[in-house]
Amino acid sequence: MAGKLFIRTFGCQMNEYDSEKISGVLAAAEGLTPAASADEADVIVFNTCSVREKAQEKIFSDLGRVKHLKRANPALLIAVGGCVASQEGGAIIERAPYVDVVFGPQTLHRLPELLARRRASGRPQVDVSFPEIEKFDHLPPARSEGATAFVSIMEGCSKYCSFCVVPYTRGPELSRPFDDVIAEIAGLAAQGVKEVTLLGQNVNAWRGEIDAAPQDFAELLFYVNEIQGIKRIRYTTSHPREFTQRLIDAHAALPALAAHVHLPVQSGSDRVLTAMKRGYTSLEYRSIIRRLRKAKPEISLSSDFIVGFPGETGADFEATLALARDLQFDGSYSFLYSPRPGTPAAELEDPVPRAHKLERLQRLQAQLEAQERAISEAMVGTVQEVLVEGPSKRNPAEFAARTGNNRTVNFAGGSDLVHSFANLRITEARHHSLRGELINAIG
Ligand code: SAM
Ligand code: F3S
Repeated sequence: MAGKLFIRTFGCQMNEYDSEKISGVLAAAEGLTPAASADEADVIVFNTCSVREKAQEKIFSDLGRVKHLKRANPALLIAVGGCVASQEGGAIIERAPYVDVVFGPQTLHRLPELLARRRASGRPQVDVSFPEIEKFDHLPPARSEGATAFVSIMEGCSKYCSFCVVPYTRGPELSRPFDDVIAEIAGLAAQGVKEVTLLGQNVNAWRGEIDAAPQDFAELLFYVNEIQGIKRIRYTTSHPREFTQRLIDAHAALPALAAHVHLPVQSGSDRVLTAMKRGYTSLEYRSIIRRLRKAKPEISLSSDFIVGFPGETGADFEATLALARDLQFDGSYSFLYSPRPGTPAAELEDPVPRAHKLERLQRLQAQLEAQERAISEAMVGTVQEVLVEGPSKRNPAEFAARTGNNRTVNFAGGSDLVHSFANLRITEARHHSLRGELINAIG
C-alpha cells in the first residue's frame, strides 16, 4: 500500500508553490498520497521560512511536536526543506537528531533520492546545494484542478537588500527558459486554466531568449497574453529597480494583465532606502506609480513595509506614513524589522527602543487598513469582472469570486459559474470581503 505524505508550509507563495511540487515529485516517485494529519503520515515534510526570526523559531517547536510519532512508527521519515534548511543545513540534524533529510529550495526534486538514501544507509541526508535550475527539468508536468495556477518563471534573488536572507537561502536569480514557461502555461490552459500568476522573488528580473534574441519580462507578458484560454495574468513579486517603462506600457496594452500590482517599497525615507540597499529613492518609486496609474487608471497597488530598520528616526517613519498615504496603497503587508544572522543589517547598531518600533508599526497598520477599507467602500455600486473560484467558505450555498484587485466577493449564483468569469455588481463592503450580485456570466 502506498504511503501518506503530510506537508507543513511556512512563509511566502514561492514556498506554497514548492510544496505543491514536493507532493507532485513524491506522488510520482513513491505513490505518496496526502495525509489529513501528521499522525497518519509515513513522510512528514516541513517547508520552512527564515525571512523573520519568529517564523524560523516556530519550526523547531513544531518539529519537537512530531518527534514522538517516530516511536509509534519507526519507518516514519521527517524531512526539512525551504529557507531554514538552506541556511542551517546539517545544523538542523544536530539540533533535532530525529530529522532524516534536509533539502533546500533548489534540491526539492532530489527528495525521492534523498529519502531512498536515508532508508538504505540509515544515515541522515543533507543536500542544500544550488544546482543551476536543474529543478524544473525534474518536476512532473504542471497540473491544476481549478481555473487558476501559479507558474514559477525565475528562482532566487541577486539583489542583496541589506536586511534579507533570501539571496543566501534561495541562491542567485535564474530565469526559466522562455520556451519552458510558454509550454507550461499552454499546457495549463489546455486543462482549463484561465488565470495564471507568474511567480518569482523578482519576476521583472526575468530574462530569456526567443530565437537567440534577448527578451525581458514585459516581452514575456505579451507572449503569455497570446496563449489561448488565458484571460487574466498576475505576477508577484516585482521589484521597483527593474520596473521599466516597457513593463508599464504592457499594463496599458494588455487588458488581460490584472489591474493589481504588488510592488514592495519597504520605506518612504531615502536615508533608510539607501541603508537597505534597495537601489531606488522614494521619488523614483513615486514616479513608477504615477506612470502606472497613467497607463491604467483603475490599477490597485499593494506593498510591503519594514518598520524599525536599525537607526530609523521619527522623521524617517513619518516619510513612510506620508508615502503610503499619498500613493493610496491597497491591502499591504507591514513587518517589524527582524535582524537575520549573516545579513549586513544585522551588524548595524540599533538604538531605537522596541516599544517605539511597535507603536510605529501599529500606526502604519491602522493607516493601511483605513485605506484598504476606503477602497472597498468606493467599489460599492461598481461592476467588477470576477473569476468564480468555488463555493463560499462561510456559506456553501453561495459562491466566492476574485476581483482584478484581488478581493473576494461572495454572491448567490449557480454552480455552472464555477471556474468562469462573470460580471458582478458590488453591493456591500465587509471587513475582509465584499458582497455582490450577478449581472451576467462571461465564460
Ligand atoms: N522580492 C521581494 C522584494 O522585492 O522586496 C521580497 C521578498 S521577501 C521574502 C518578502 C518581504 O518580507 C519583503 O518585502 C520584506 O518586507 C519582508 N522582509 C524581508 N526581510 C525582512 C526582515 N529581515 N525583517 C522584516 N521583514 C523582512
Ligand atoms: Fe529580499 Fe530584496 Fe531580494 S527583499 S528577496 S533581497 S529584492
